[in-house]
Amino acid sequence: MPVITNIQDLKRMHKRRTPKMFYDYAESGSWTEQTFRENTTDFEKIRLRQRVAVDMADRTTKTTMIGQDVAMPVGLAPVGLTGMQCADGEIKAAKAAEKFGVPFTLSTMSICSIEDVAENTEKPFWFQVYTLRDDDFMTRLMARAKDAKCSAMMITLDLQILGQRHKDLKNGLTAPPKFTAKTIADLATKWSWGIEMLQTKRRFFGNIVGHAKEVTDPSSLSTWTADSFDQSLDWARVAELRKMWDGPVILKGILDVEDAKKAVEIGADAIIVSNHGGRQLDGALSSIRMLEQIVDAVGDKIEVHLDSGIRSGQDVLKAMALGAKGTYIGRAFVHGLGAMGEAGVTKALEVIHKELDLTMALCGHRDINTVDRDTLLVPKDFAGDWT
Ligand code: GLV
Repeated sequence: MPVITNIQDLKRMHKRRTPKMFYDYAESGSWTEQTFRENTTDFEKIRLRQRVAVDMADRTTKTTMIGQDVAMPVGLAPVGLTGMQCADGEIKAAKAAEKFGVPFTLSTMSICSIEDVAENTEKPFWFQVYTLRDDDFMTRLMARAKDAKCSAMMITLDLQILGQRHKDLKNGLTAPPKFTAKTIADLATKWSWGIEMLQTKRRFFGNIVGHAKEVTDPSSLSTWTADSFDQSLDWARVAELRKMWDGPVILKGILDVEDAKKAVEIGADAIIVSNHGGRQLDGALSSIRMLEQIVDAVGDKIEVHLDSGIRSGQDVLKAMALGAKGTYIGRAFVHGLGAMGEAGVTKALEVIHKELDLTMALCGHRDINTVDRDTLLVPKDFAGDWT
């Protein structure tokens, strides 16, 4: 067993163990992938202030996100097809998250259903919805999440249509994979993935198959989104959805101050500054670049979280120092899952926790809640002068 010390180690193992179409699905952005790349390279532009002779004993990374206690401010983001990275992937990831004490968010586009995850976990998880054309399906989906005791609803706003990801089209991405000469040749080298997958019955979009009507090919993400997603979504509809859930609502996909203000107006509890991991609007600015101005505009009225680009504890610290109250990892936990199942997700969380804790200490802080803008050195033109 190799010694795993960072997320890159898990990423290499993920690539070796998982069929190409699913690894590529996780590790890609839309079109030129500029936004996907800059989500991580922009984090590198921010530097940390080294402080010395500051008492660093008794440290804590504990805080709250939407009023819920978390062991560190890092949730598991909703990721489609997680159960294709590894058999029963959503259940395994949810178990790792609950043992670690961080939130798990189940995607509408998951393989394991809401009920599957609820039956196999102890603590409430969060559920993510897309805005769908079929009102009945949408209402039932939210009711199913309520019955499963989900403790927050995350509404994704930046995917009414799917950004084009070249690799998925070229690989013919479906869940489960369709048998072609190319997929058979690839699967033949990924036998441990295949053996586990044959042992589970969870190989289809579990929240959809048998629940939604009029989907022409429910195995294809692109067909399903084109058939089902509500392209006429507007803020009035978002306000209705907010009212339909009598618990905390998190709006995901906010990258603009004007939209952040709208989220406050409709009474959301939190927003996630996000460009969908660079998978939607290629050419958009990175989330970390947009964070500070959004926090300045609405941070005293709503909790501001961030995703897109977090691959380390240092990244978490930087986002928190710029005013985020929580962050999410997507690819970082998926690499762990694809590498080693539940143990791999636990490993990813341990890696990030250790990086966060040590970095915080070396910056002169003992408590994640005291980390502030003074902890960082940010280039003067970081946010940029875009007009
Ligand atoms: C789904 O959210 C995706 O980005 O594929």
